[in-house]
Amino acid sequence: MTDLTALTGQALAEVAACEALAALEEARVRWLGKKGALTEQLKSLGALPAHERPAAGARINEAKAKLQAAIEARRTALERMQLEHELAERRIDVTLPGRGEEAGGLHPLTRARQRIETLFRRAGFEVASGPEIEDDFHNFEALNIPPDHPARALHDTFYFPDGRLLRTHTSPVQIRSLLTHGAPIALIAPGRVYRRDSDMTHAPMFHQLEGLVVDENVSFAHMKAALHGFLQAFFERDLAMRLRPSYFPFTEPSAEVDMSCVFCNGKGCRTCKQTGWLEISGCGMVHPNVLEASGVDPERYTGYAFGAGIDRLAMLRYGVNDLRLFFENDLRFLRQFQAAFA
Ligand code: PHE
Repeated sequence: MTDLTALTGQALAEVAACEALAALEEARVRWLGKKGALTEQLKSLGALPAHERPAAGARINEAKAKLQAAIEARRTALERMQLEHELAERRIDVTLPGRGEEAGGLHPLTRARQRIETLFRRAGFEVASGPEIEDDFHNFEALNIPPDHPARALHDTFYFPDGRLLRTHTSPVQIRSLLTHGAPIALIAPGRVYRRDSDMTHAPMFHQLEGLVVDENVSFAHMKAALHGFLQAFFERDLAMRLRPSYFPFTEPSAEVDMSCVFCNGKGCRTCKQTGWLEISGCGMVHPNVLEASGVDPERYTGYAFGAGIDRLAMLRYGVNDLRLFFENDLRFLRQFQAAFA
Protein backbone atom coordinates (compact mmCIF):
# COMPACT_ATOMS: atom_id res chain seq x y z
CA MET A 1 0.00 0.00 0.00
CA THR A 2 2.91 2.29 0.58
CA ASP A 3 3.59 2.72 -3.10
CA LEU A 4 0.00 3.79 -4.02
CA THR A 5 1.01 7.42 -4.20
CA ALA A 6 4.03 6.56 -6.33
CA LEU A 7 1.94 4.28 -8.56
CA THR A 8 -0.68 6.96 -9.06
CA GLY A 9 1.99 9.51 -9.86
CA GLN A 10 3.50 7.18 -12.45
CA ALA A 11 0.09 6.50 -14.01
CA LEU A 12 -0.75 10.21 -14.22
CA ALA A 13 2.61 10.92 -15.86
CA GLU A 14 2.05 8.18 -18.43
CA VAL A 15 -1.40 9.49 -19.26
CA ALA A 16 -0.10 13.02 -19.64
CA ALA A 17 2.60 11.76 -22.00
CA CYS A 18 0.16 10.01 -24.35
CA GLU A 19 0.21 11.65 -27.78
CA ALA A 20 -2.40 9.52 -29.46
CA LEU A 21 -5.84 8.17 -28.60
CA ALA A 22 -4.71 4.58 -29.16
CA ALA A 23 -1.80 4.98 -26.72
CA LEU A 24 -4.17 6.54 -24.17
CA GLU A 25 -6.53 3.58 -24.43
CA GLU A 26 -3.60 1.22 -23.90
CA ALA A 27 -2.61 3.14 -20.77
CA ARG A 28 -6.15 2.99 -19.45
CA VAL A 29 -6.22 -0.80 -19.84
CA ARG A 30 -2.77 -1.09 -18.28
CA TRP A 31 -3.83 0.81 -15.14
CA LEU A 32 -7.59 0.53 -14.77
CA GLY A 33 -8.47 -2.56 -16.79
CA LYS A 34 -9.55 -5.86 -15.19
CA LYS A 35 -5.90 -6.81 -14.68
CA GLY A 36 -4.66 -3.20 -14.47
CA ALA A 37 -2.04 -2.17 -11.94
CA LEU A 38 -4.44 -0.10 -9.80
CA THR A 39 -7.17 -2.71 -10.00
CA GLU A 40 -4.66 -5.27 -8.71
CA GLN A 41 -4.19 -3.07 -5.64
CA LEU A 42 -7.81 -3.74 -4.62
CA LYS A 43 -7.09 -7.46 -4.70
CA SER A 44 -4.31 -7.02 -2.14
CA LEU A 45 -6.76 -5.60 0.39
CA GLY A 46 -7.48 -9.12 1.63
CA ALA A 47 -3.99 -9.30 3.10
CA LEU A 48 -4.68 -6.31 5.40
CA PRO A 49 -6.15 -6.50 8.87
CA ALA A 50 -9.93 -6.03 8.72
CA HIS A 51 -9.95 -2.61 10.43
CA GLU A 52 -7.53 -1.14 7.89
CA ARG A 53 -9.40 -2.36 4.81
CA PRO A 54 -12.12 0.34 4.52
CA ALA A 55 -9.65 3.23 4.65
CA ALA A 56 -7.20 1.51 2.27
CA GLY A 57 -10.03 0.61 -0.14
CA ALA A 58 -11.24 4.21 -0.12
CA ARG A 59 -7.76 5.48 -0.98
CA ILE A 60 -7.41 3.04 -3.87
CA ASN A 61 -10.84 4.03 -5.26
CA GLU A 62 -9.91 7.67 -4.87
CA ALA A 63 -6.71 7.07 -6.85
CA LYS A 64 -8.68 5.22 -9.55
CA ALA A 65 -11.20 8.04 -9.81
CA LYS A 66 -8.41 10.60 -10.08
CA LEU A 67 -6.73 8.60 -12.84
CA GLN A 68 -10.05 8.05 -14.62
CA ALA A 69 -10.65 11.80 -14.61
CA ALA A 70 -7.15 12.47 -15.92
CA ILE A 71 -7.69 9.97 -18.74
CA GLU A 72 -11.01 11.60 -19.71
CA ALA A 73 -9.41 15.04 -19.73
CA ARG A 74 -6.52 13.78 -21.85
CA ARG A 75 -8.90 12.06 -24.25
CA THR A 76 -10.86 15.27 -24.72
CA ALA A 77 -7.65 17.19 -25.33
CA LEU A 78 -6.34 14.63 -27.83
CA GLU A 79 -9.65 14.55 -29.69
CA ARG A 80 -9.67 18.30 -30.00
CA MET A 81 -6.06 18.31 -31.21
CA GLN A 82 -6.91 15.68 -33.80
CA LEU A 83 -9.91 17.67 -35.00
CA GLU A 84 -7.88 20.86 -35.24
CA HIS A 85 -5.19 19.01 -37.12
CA GLU A 86 -7.74 17.66 -39.59
CA LEU A 87 -9.37 21.05 -40.04
CA ALA A 88 -5.99 22.63 -40.75
CA GLU A 89 -4.97 19.84 -43.14
CA ARG A 90 -8.10 19.61 -45.24
CA ARG A 91 -9.08 23.19 -45.06
CA ILE A 92 -11.84 24.25 -47.43
CA ASP A 93 -11.04 27.48 -49.14
CA VAL A 94 -14.43 29.11 -49.27
CA THR A 95 -13.02 31.94 -51.39
CA LEU A 96 -12.35 29.63 -54.36
CA PRO A 97 -14.72 30.14 -57.29
CA GLY A 98 -17.57 27.61 -57.32
CA ARG A 99 -18.02 24.94 -59.95
CA GLY A 100 -21.03 26.85 -61.22
CA GLU A 101 -23.94 25.57 -63.21
CA GLU A 102 -23.96 25.49 -66.97
CA ALA A 103 -27.00 26.75 -68.74
CA GLY A 104 -28.61 23.99 -70.78
CA GLY A 105 -29.89 24.41 -74.28
CA LEU A 106 -32.79 23.06 -76.25
CA HIS A 107 -32.11 20.28 -78.72
CA PRO A 108 -32.11 21.65 -82.29
CA LEU A 109 -35.08 19.44 -83.17
CA THR A 110 -37.00 20.80 -80.20
CA ARG A 111 -36.15 24.34 -81.28
CA ALA A 112 -37.29 23.63 -84.82
CA ARG A 113 -40.53 22.04 -83.59
CA GLN A 114 -41.28 24.94 -81.28
CA ARG A 115 -40.71 27.45 -84.07
CA ILE A 116 -42.98 25.47 -86.36
CA GLU A 117 -45.69 25.37 -83.71
CA THR A 118 -45.44 29.11 -83.11
CA LEU A 119 -45.69 29.90 -86.82
CA PHE A 120 -48.72 27.68 -87.39
CA ARG A 121 -50.49 28.81 -84.22
CA ARG A 122 -50.14 32.37 -85.49
CA ALA A 123 -51.96 31.24 -88.63
CA GLY A 124 -54.83 29.76 -86.62
CA PHE A 125 -53.78 26.09 -86.48
CA GLU A 126 -54.10 23.95 -83.36
CA VAL A 127 -51.28 21.63 -82.28
CA ALA A 128 -52.47 18.04 -82.00
CA SER A 129 -50.81 14.76 -81.12
CA GLY A 130 -51.53 11.04 -81.17
CA PRO A 131 -50.06 7.78 -79.87
CA GLU A 132 -46.81 6.43 -81.28
CA ILE A 133 -48.09 2.90 -80.83
CA GLU A 134 -50.91 2.74 -83.35
CA ASP A 135 -53.32 0.17 -84.71
CA ASP A 136 -53.85 -0.90 -88.28
CA PHE A 137 -57.09 1.06 -88.59
CA HIS A 138 -55.64 4.51 -87.82
CA ASN A 139 -52.23 4.02 -89.47
CA PHE A 140 -53.49 2.34 -92.67
CA GLU A 141 -57.12 1.31 -93.08
CA ALA A 142 -58.79 4.66 -92.41
CA LEU A 143 -56.14 6.36 -94.56
CA ASN A 144 -57.40 4.45 -97.57
CA ILE A 145 -54.66 1.83 -97.38
CA PRO A 146 -56.49 -1.54 -97.25
CA PRO A 147 -54.58 -4.72 -96.22
CA ASP A 148 -53.56 -5.72 -99.76
CA HIS A 149 -52.55 -2.22 -100.82
CA PRO A 150 -49.03 -2.02 -102.33
CA ALA A 151 -48.34 1.23 -100.43
CA ARG A 152 -47.99 -0.85 -97.26
CA ALA A 153 -44.80 -2.35 -98.61
CA LEU A 154 -43.27 1.14 -98.74
CA HIS A 155 -43.81 1.71 -95.07
CA ASP A 156 -41.34 -0.84 -93.58
CA THR A 157 -43.48 -1.15 -90.50
CA PHE A 158 -42.38 -2.27 -87.03
CA TYR A 159 -45.12 -4.59 -85.80
CA PHE A 160 -45.92 -5.81 -82.29
CA PRO A 161 -46.93 -9.48 -81.86
CA ASP A 162 -50.54 -8.43 -81.19
CA GLY A 163 -50.83 -6.65 -84.57
CA ARG A 164 -50.36 -3.14 -83.24
CA LEU A 165 -47.49 -1.16 -84.75
CA LEU A 166 -45.21 1.85 -84.36
CA ARG A 167 -46.84 4.53 -86.48
CA THR A 168 -45.05 4.93 -89.80
CA HIS A 169 -46.26 8.51 -90.27
CA THR A 170 -48.18 11.20 -88.39
CA SER A 171 -51.18 10.86 -90.71
CA PRO A 172 -53.13 8.70 -88.19
CA VAL A 173 -53.50 11.92 -86.16
CA GLN A 174 -55.70 13.19 -89.03
CA ILE A 175 -58.12 10.34 -88.39
CA ARG A 176 -58.08 10.60 -84.60
CA SER A 177 -58.59 14.37 -84.62
CA LEU A 178 -61.41 14.25 -87.14
CA LEU A 179 -63.14 11.42 -85.26
CA THR A 180 -62.91 13.42 -82.03
CA HIS A 181 -63.56 16.98 -83.20
CA GLY A 182 -65.10 16.67 -86.65
CA ALA A 183 -64.98 19.46 -89.24
CA PRO A 184 -64.08 22.28 -89.56
CA ILE A 185 -60.54 21.68 -88.33
CA ALA A 186 -57.08 23.21 -88.81
CA LEU A 187 -54.21 21.44 -87.08
CA ILE A 188 -50.61 20.47 -87.21
CA ALA A 189 -49.31 17.33 -85.51
CA PRO A 190 -45.55 17.14 -85.00
CA GLY A 191 -44.21 13.85 -83.68
CA ARG A 192 -42.03 10.79 -83.84
CA VAL A 193 -42.54 8.15 -86.51
CA TYR A 194 -40.81 4.82 -87.10
CA ARG A 195 -39.65 2.81 -90.10
CA ARG A 196 -37.30 -0.13 -90.52
CA ASP A 197 -34.74 1.99 -92.24
CA SER A 198 -31.25 3.12 -91.29
CA ASP A 199 -28.47 4.78 -93.28
CA MET A 200 -26.84 8.19 -93.86
CA THR A 201 -30.13 9.97 -94.40
CA HIS A 202 -32.62 7.59 -92.75
CA ALA A 203 -33.05 6.79 -89.07
CA PRO A 204 -35.46 4.12 -87.74
CA MET A 205 -37.07 6.93 -85.74
CA PHE A 206 -37.56 10.38 -87.20
CA HIS A 207 -39.94 13.32 -86.93
CA GLN A 208 -42.81 14.37 -89.11
CA LEU A 209 -45.01 17.40 -89.25
CA GLU A 210 -48.56 16.60 -90.22
CA GLY A 211 -50.89 19.34 -91.35
CA LEU A 212 -54.64 19.08 -91.85
CA VAL A 213 -57.27 21.64 -92.80
CA VAL A 214 -60.86 20.55 -93.42
CA ASP A 215 -63.67 23.01 -94.00
CA GLU A 216 -66.19 23.99 -96.64
CA ASN A 217 -64.58 25.19 -99.86
CA VAL A 218 -60.99 24.38 -98.94
CA SER A 219 -58.96 24.26 -102.13
CA PHE A 220 -55.60 23.21 -103.49
CA ALA A 221 -54.71 26.91 -103.72
CA HIS A 222 -55.23 27.30 -99.95
CA MET A 223 -52.78 24.48 -99.41
CA LYS A 224 -50.20 25.97 -101.72
CA ALA A 225 -50.40 29.37 -100.02
CA ALA A 226 -50.21 27.86 -96.51
CA LEU A 227 -47.16 25.76 -97.36
CA HIS A 228 -45.35 28.54 -99.17
CA GLY A 229 -46.09 30.99 -96.36
CA PHE A 230 -44.84 28.53 -93.78
CA LEU A 231 -41.58 27.79 -95.63
CA GLN A 232 -40.79 31.48 -96.07
CA ALA A 233 -41.52 32.17 -92.39
CA PHE A 234 -39.53 29.15 -91.20
CA PHE A 235 -36.46 29.97 -93.30
CA GLU A 236 -36.98 33.73 -92.94
CA ARG A 237 -36.40 34.48 -96.60
CA ASP A 238 -38.04 34.55 -99.98
CA LEU A 239 -38.14 31.05 -101.45
CA ALA A 240 -39.51 29.58 -104.61
CA MET A 241 -41.82 26.61 -104.13
CA ARG A 242 -43.19 24.14 -106.64
CA LEU A 243 -45.60 21.21 -106.50
CA ARG A 244 -44.84 18.03 -108.39
CA PRO A 245 -47.60 15.50 -109.09
CA SER A 246 -47.27 12.49 -106.83
CA TYR A 247 -49.31 9.73 -105.26
CA PHE A 248 -50.52 9.01 -101.74
CA PRO A 249 -53.52 6.74 -101.06
CA PHE A 250 -54.97 9.26 -98.59
CA THR A 251 -54.86 12.34 -100.82
CA GLU A 252 -56.22 13.03 -104.28
CA PRO A 253 -54.73 14.82 -106.09
CA SER A 254 -51.34 14.44 -104.41
CA ALA A 255 -48.09 16.34 -104.79
CA GLU A 256 -44.51 16.60 -103.59
CA VAL A 257 -43.49 20.00 -102.28
CA ASP A 258 -40.12 21.29 -103.48
CA MET A 259 -38.54 24.54 -102.36
CA SER A 260 -35.61 26.33 -103.92
CA CYS A 261 -32.35 25.18 -102.32
CA VAL A 262 -31.51 27.30 -99.26
CA PHE A 263 -27.78 26.78 -99.80
CA CYS A 264 -27.39 27.83 -103.44
CA ASN A 265 -30.67 29.74 -103.95
CA GLY A 266 -31.59 27.40 -106.78
CA LYS A 267 -28.31 27.57 -108.71
CA GLY A 268 -27.42 23.94 -107.99
CA CYS A 269 -25.08 22.53 -105.34
CA ARG A 270 -24.25 19.29 -103.55
CA THR A 271 -27.12 19.52 -101.07
CA CYS A 272 -29.74 19.79 -103.83
CA LYS A 273 -27.83 17.37 -106.09
CA GLN A 274 -27.41 20.19 -108.66
CA THR A 275 -31.19 20.42 -109.18
CA GLY A 276 -31.69 23.72 -107.35
CA TRP A 277 -34.67 22.14 -105.53
CA LEU A 278 -35.13 20.43 -102.18
CA GLU A 279 -37.95 17.99 -101.59
CA ILE A 280 -39.54 18.98 -98.32
CA SER A 281 -43.03 17.52 -97.96
CA GLY A 282 -45.81 15.41 -99.35
CA CYS A 283 -49.27 16.92 -99.65
CA GLY A 284 -52.65 16.73 -101.31
CA MET A 285 -56.41 17.09 -101.00
CA VAL A 286 -57.80 14.72 -98.37
CA HIS A 287 -59.28 11.68 -100.12
CA PRO A 288 -63.08 11.41 -99.75
CA ASN A 289 -62.62 7.87 -98.37
CA VAL A 290 -60.52 9.31 -95.54
CA LEU A 291 -63.15 11.93 -94.68
CA GLU A 292 -65.81 9.23 -94.72
CA ALA A 293 -63.78 6.89 -92.48
CA SER A 294 -63.41 9.83 -90.07
CA GLY A 295 -67.13 10.60 -89.97
CA VAL A 296 -66.92 13.75 -92.10
CA ASP A 297 -69.32 14.30 -95.00
CA PRO A 298 -67.19 14.51 -98.19
CA GLU A 299 -70.12 16.11 -100.06
CA ARG A 300 -69.97 19.10 -97.77
CA TYR A 301 -66.33 19.30 -96.74
CA THR A 302 -63.00 19.29 -98.52
CA GLY A 303 -59.56 19.50 -97.01
CA TYR A 304 -55.86 19.43 -97.57
CA ALA A 305 -53.12 17.62 -95.73
CA PHE A 306 -49.36 17.61 -95.78
CA GLY A 307 -46.58 15.62 -94.17
CA ALA A 308 -43.11 17.16 -93.90
CA GLY A 309 -39.90 15.92 -92.29
CA ILE A 310 -39.01 18.00 -89.24
CA ASP A 311 -35.48 16.58 -89.12
CA ARG A 312 -34.90 17.69 -92.69
CA LEU A 313 -36.32 21.14 -92.03
CA ALA A 314 -34.00 21.48 -89.02
CA MET A 315 -30.98 20.22 -91.01
CA LEU A 316 -31.61 22.78 -93.72
CA ARG A 317 -32.22 25.63 -91.33
CA TYR A 318 -29.20 24.95 -89.11
CA GLY A 319 -26.87 23.71 -91.86
CA VAL A 320 -26.48 20.20 -90.42
CA ASN A 321 -25.35 17.71 -93.05
CA ASP A 322 -25.77 14.38 -91.21
CA LEU A 323 -29.12 13.34 -89.76
CA ARG A 324 -27.43 11.08 -87.22
CA LEU A 325 -25.89 14.08 -85.42
CA PHE A 326 -29.35 14.84 -84.07
CA PHE A 327 -29.55 11.49 -82.30
CA GLU A 328 -25.98 10.96 -81.04
CA ASN A 329 -26.23 13.51 -78.20
CA ASP A 330 -22.64 14.68 -78.64
CA LEU A 331 -22.46 17.74 -76.38
CA ARG A 332 -19.95 19.45 -78.69
CA PHE A 333 -22.62 19.38 -81.39
CA LEU A 334 -25.56 20.26 -79.15
CA ARG A 335 -23.76 23.17 -77.42
CA GLN A 336 -23.62 25.04 -80.71
CA PHE A 337 -27.38 25.52 -80.49
CA GLN A 338 -27.49 27.03 -77.01
CA ALA A 339 -27.78 30.64 -78.05
CA ALA A 340 -26.67 30.88 -81.63
CA PHE A 341 -30.02 30.20 -83.25
CA ALA A 342 -33.62 30.99 -82.66
N1 PHE B 1 -47.94 10.49 -94.62
C1 PHE B 1 -47.11 10.74 -95.77
C2 PHE B 1 -45.75 10.08 -95.55
O1 PHE B 1 -45.41 9.75 -94.48
C3 PHE B 1 -46.92 12.21 -96.01
C4 PHE B 1 -48.18 12.91 -96.36
C5 PHE B 1 -49.00 13.42 -95.38
C6 PHE B 1 -48.55 13.07 -97.67
C7 PHE B 1 -50.18 14.06 -95.71
C8 PHE B 1 -49.71 13.71 -98.02
C9 PHE B 1 -50.53 14.22 -97.03
O2 PHE B 1 -45.04 9.87 -96.48
